[in-house]
Amino acid sequence: MASSEISTSSKILLVNKQLEKLYNIGKKESRIIIGLMSGTSLDGLDIALCKIHGAGKNTRVELLRFETISYEDTYKNEVREVYSKPLISSEKICLLNEWIGMYHAGLINACLKKWNLKNEDIDLIASHGQTIYHAPKSLHKHETFGNGTLQIGDGDHIACHTGIITLSDFRQKHIAAGGEGAPLAAYGDYLLFANNPKSLVLLNIGGIANLTFIPANKEFEHVKTTDIGPGNILMDIWIRKHFPGLNYDKDADIARSGMVNKQLLKILHQHPFIKIKFPKTTGPEIFNESFIREALGFCDDKDIPAEDVTATLNQFTADLITASIDYYISSMQDCEILISGGGIHNKLLMDKIKKHFTHLPVSTTLNKEISPDAKEAIIFALLANESVSGNRDTFGKGGAKMPATGMGKISFPY
Ligand SMILES: Nc1ncnc2c1ncn2[C@@H]1O[C@H](COP(=O)(O)OP(=O)(O)OP(=O)(O)O)[C@@H](O)[C@H]1O
Ligand SMILES: [Mg+2]
Repeated sequence: MASSEISTSSKILLVNKQLEKLYNIGKKESRIIIGLMSGTSLDGLDIALCKIHGAGKNTRVELLRFETISYEDTYKNEVREVYSKPLISSEKICLLNEWIGMYHAGLINACLKKWNLKNEDIDLIASHGQTIYHAPKSLHKHETFGNGTLQIGDGDHIACHTGIITLSDFRQKHIAAGGEGAPLAAYGDYLLFANNPKSLVLLNIGGIANLTFIPANKEFEHVKTTDIGPGNILMDIWIRKHFPGLNYDKDADIARSGMVNKQLLKILHQHPFIKIKFPKTTGPEIFNESFIREALGFCDDKDIPAEDVTATLNQFTADLITASIDYYISSMQDCEILISGGGIHNKLLMDKIKKHFTHLPVSTTLNKEISPDAKEAIIFALLANESVSGNRDTFGKGGAKMPATGMGKISFPY
């Protein structure tokens, strides 16, 4: 037998072994899955070690460990060079795709070591990747093109450098199924909370805020989801620029020390994105430094104190969040609001939301035993679990508008 034939047949054997391993993972009663989230805030990599039992509506998740590993400045600077910019070097994207994959793999290996766990004890990694551009048609408006979104941090690199089968790039399936690639949280929210006796609004306040509305006792076809607009993103950008050394308005101390500027608030509300009907998706391509600068440019007062701008951005964020929830629940009286994401630590924002919905119970997802800081990372672990073990019917049969089952691309280790 020629040597090339030997190497070809041994490769086939190797791939089959990995497929067999994946098949066996899919058949297990419970799986150990690491969910990774790296959001628009660039605060760090969320690593959620989950034990997931079952699949579909019978899914049950235990969060075994959770850690947010703060990014070093190198990571933030490299990503900020390309992030949400329409024109950038293709060489840079090409290199970052590999680099982020390896960077994330390094963080996972370090975390597993710290937790005294062996890589072979982990069944799967579910990696969101780093979004560098999100372009729904409402943003780019090109006739020829549909919706687009791009997350980098290649899954093969994660799989090869951790030795763990990795699912990544979850958002493309959603676009292929007719969506905008976001928000995907609705799928995980449904798996986590569909059995709740009351209707639920799951509000996530990350860089961008999004919501899932799950009416009580209804199938997935009745679940609604949308991005809302800014979560922490505008406040973070402003703080980083005007309060050197700070990354965000810790406990909203700065916003509290300022006054809302009514004219600036009114101008912020006039942005065309706000008039786009729900559901919609967005990102830092719209909610960025120019967004704030342009609004300030229309104000008569050219010297609004930085604390007042912070207070105004906080109010603007709260207004958009409360208006979107009002829209989805209309006058429903029997509904709970559960909040997650870093925004739960912004006390002023939380107070405003609670004050607006005095007639409804408002709390964090901790109330249902789901860590509000870990929820997004848990959701990607759930999506991977569903892809290897769920069935097509979980999110509705063929008639459903956007079932998007089987999200994520599979990467095998060496
Ligand atoms: N103590 C705090 N006070 C005020 N804000 C806080 C506090 N802790 C965290 N935050 C806010 O939470 C943000 C991080 O939130 P989170 O990690 O949910 O966002 P993300 O990584 O962008 O995720 P997503 O993809 O969901 O947008 C920080 O940038 C900050 O604005
Ligand atoms: Mg984060």
